[in-house]
Order: sequence, then structure tokens, then C-alpha cells
Amino acid sequence: MDSTLAVRPAAAADRERVVRLLGDSWGGTTVVVHGRAYDAAELPALVAERAGALAGLLTYEITDAGLEIVTLDAVHRRGGVGGALLDAAVAVARGVGASRVWLVTTNDNLDALRFYQRRGLRIVAVAPGAVDAARVRKPSIPLVGEYGIPLHDELTLELPI
Ligand SMILES: CC(C)(COP(=O)(O)OP(=O)(O)OC[C@H]1O[C@@H](n2cnc3c(N)ncnc32)[C@H](O)[C@@H]1OP(=O)(O)O)[C@@H](O)C(=O)NCCC(=O)NCCS
Repeated sequence: MDSTLAVRPAAAADRERVVRLLGDSWGGTTVVVHGRAYDAAELPALVAERAGALAGLLTYEITDAGLEIVTLDAVHRRGGVGGALLDAAVAVARGVGASRVWLVTTNDNLDALRFYQRRGLRIVAVAPGAVDAARVRKPSIPLVGEYGIPLHDELTLELPI
């Protein structure tokens, strides 16, 4: 079977495995970020597939503020999935004439901070305590995140396009 990585817009038929992946990664489809609760399963999305299996997912929203990446997940990391999905999101943003791609991540997420900065995104805002505030709305957000780092703050990154 073809093991090439392919990225395409999500279709209705992807919904079940999209919901499952969001549940595995984020404890459900609700994502609370910068004071907003999103149902990521209802957002437009890009899926990455390898040999017919879901390899990654990027959900996003387009507003006057640009294309916001709400979630980005690679099923197996360090295999090029995140990069392929980010490239596809930038292409979507260009296609709709958006001025930037942006996202919010958390202070513990060193893999994401490295990943995005190496791909040209810049940290443009830091919100101390924003994760603590989100945890009030979504108590399942852990107290300790990646690498055993206490989870408190949000960072906004952007790529002007
Ligand atoms: C952030 C995230 C999406 C990155 O996805 P990824 O698939 O690991 O990203 P890539 O594989 O494209 O790139 C990661 C690294 O692997 C390397 N890599 C890619 N293909 C590789 C290969 N075949 N062999 C070895 N290394 C490889 C890349 O060079 C890259 O290194 P760099 O970050 O130092 O530049 C992933 O870590 C993830 O799913 N994290 C959990 C969810 C999350 O936190 N999402 C972000 C919040 S919005």
C-alpha cells in the first residue's frame, strides 16, 4: 500500500476518527484557549493520511484576524506530519487572502514552541495565568504538562503572510 503522506481537507466521513483523535489528544473535542471554548470537531480541518490511516489533524478557524490553528496533532511525532499540515494551513490562508497564520500554545509545550519557531512563527504575546483561567472552565486541563512543567501560561505565535 502507498505509504506517502497525503494532506487533504477533512470530509464528513472523517468525523468519527477526527473525534477520536481529538479525544486522545485533548481529552475531548472542546478546546479552551484565549478565553474561548471551541468545539474543534465542528471546525474546518485538514487531515494527514498515510496508507489510509489518520496520521495527523489540524483544525482551524478563519476570521478577520487571520487563520487560527486551533489544534494540530501528529499521531506519531517527528515524521514530517506536523510540517506537512502546517504548510497546508499556510496554503489555505494564502488562498483566502488571510494576513497571518496564528495560534496559541502553552508554556510547557517545548516541542510545539521549537516546531513553530523553526518554521518562522514568532512569539507575539504571552498571557500569564491564562491556562489557570481556562482550567476553571475545563477542569480536565492538567496542572502539570509536558516535561513535568507546571502548566500556567499561554503564548501566541504568528506567521505574517
Ligand atoms: C507539534 C507537533 C504537531 C509537531 O508535529 P511533528 O509531526 O512532530 O512535526 P514534524 O515531524 O514535521 O517536525 C518535527 C521535527 O521532526 C523532524 N523530522 C521530520 N521528519 C523526520 C524524519 N523522517 N526523521 C527524523 N526527523 C524528522 C523535523 O525536522 C522536526 O524537527 P525540528 O522541529 O527540530 O525542526 C507534534 O509535536 C504534536 O503533535 N504535539 C502534540 C500536540 C501539540 O502540542 N500540538 C501543538 C499545539 S497547537
